[in-house]
Amino acid sequence: MCEYAFNELCRPRPEWTGTDYDFLQARDMLDFHRSLPGYAATPLVELPNLAAKLGLAEIFVKDESQRFGIKAFKALGASYAMYRFLQRRWQERFSEPFTPASFRDAKVLEKLGAFTFCAATDGNHGRAVAWTARMLGQRAVIYMPADSVPVRVENIRGEGAEVVLVAGTFDLCVERCAADAAKNGWQAISDTAYAGYREIPGWILLGYTSIFAELEGLLHGPMKTGVDAVILPAGVGGLAAAGAFFYTKRYGAKRPCLICIEPVSSDCFLESVRHGKGEPLPTKGKQTSIMAGLNCGVPSPLAWPFLRDAYPFFLAVGDEWAEQAMRRYYRPLKDDPPIVSGESGSSGLAALLALTTSPKLAEARGKLPLGKGSRVLIVNTEGDTDPENFQKVVEQQ
Ligand SMILES: Cc1ncc(COP(=O)(O)O)c(C=O)c1O
Repeated sequence: MCEYAFNELCRPRPEWTGTDYDFLQARDMLDFHRSLPGYAATPLVELPNLAAKLGLAEIFVKDESQRFGIKAFKALGASYAMYRFLQRRWQERFSEPFTPASFRDAKVLEKLGAFTFCAATDGNHGRAVAWTARMLGQRAVIYMPADSVPVRVENIRGEGAEVVLVAGTFDLCVERCAADAAKNGWQAISDTAYAGYREIPGWILLGYTSIFAELEGLLHGPMKTGVDAVILPAGVGGLAAAGAFFYTKRYGAKRPCLICIEPVSSDCFLESVRHGKGEPLPTKGKQTSIMAGLNCGVPSPLAWPFLRDAYPFFLAVGDEWAEQAMRRYYRPLKDDPPIVSGESGSSGLAALLALTTSPKLAEARGKLPLGKGSRVLIVNTEGDTDPENFQKVVEQQ
């Protein structure tokens, strides 16, 4: 199953200016990440045999499955947001500078005092917040839908965090987390924005840009993107917005064609593009996809303008495409290297498989740079975060 829309609001040179966008001035994201223990640029993998089979010139996969040893890209956002939050607190009270080294300096942290960080998650963002809090010796409380896969809950507890299971969707977890933060004086580290809360999700978005910054000089030449299309998944839209900001700022109208991928059952960005008038709309789906990280019912109001203004094409696919992509990554063609990719992680390849093989999408493909000479970048955003289901899926033929 797949559905799509071309976005008439997409502009060649979008600009995000004004005080709401002052946060975009930051330049220190990659330097900060490089200072963290366990930092390594994630691999860029090529799949030439698959590219030939799908009628493309090249497929590049930025493989985030090993990022910081927690199997997903999310720690890039949580750690940078928590760094900027502590830096702000420090600057309010002390005159010495707060640098990336301060972030891990026990004496500095002791002077700042104790915090409780809280977050809502379908798994990966919560684990990233818990991982960062543990590194800082701080408390974390993580809100998850009660029907989350048990291993994802255990992974978060394994980082020393308390987990609160909420009977409802991710969006309800966001509400509960915000309410408890206000009641208890905790600091919410939410990857989605809401009324009166934009700063932290803005820093999270900035943190994700390190994925693209790591590709500079490797994949992209000077002022040349080196790829024709970039496919990025959207849950609340933080990662997709980071891609929009990064490529628009650097390459303007010459940026690669940005393609957004979501599950059909939580297609809030596609819904907004199809039926909205420039404002974000909730999905009409039941948010039941196995692509758990993408099971978000409403676009983050912070991310939305980036996608609305910079993405010409929005696609939503059924879970069968994600499963097919997991298997293709795991059992590649000929000597293409194998990649471990979880349900949400595989969504970029799911989009590419659908766009190049589904007759329903043939017309759409014809309008996109997905032909014989095209070089396409996808991001494998997670590894096997649910190893049991991963095995079940990849063992099927
Ligand atoms: C593996 C994975 N991929 C993609 C996403 C989507 O990111 P965002 O919510 O920033 O749109 C998530 C979100 O949790 C995720 O866990």
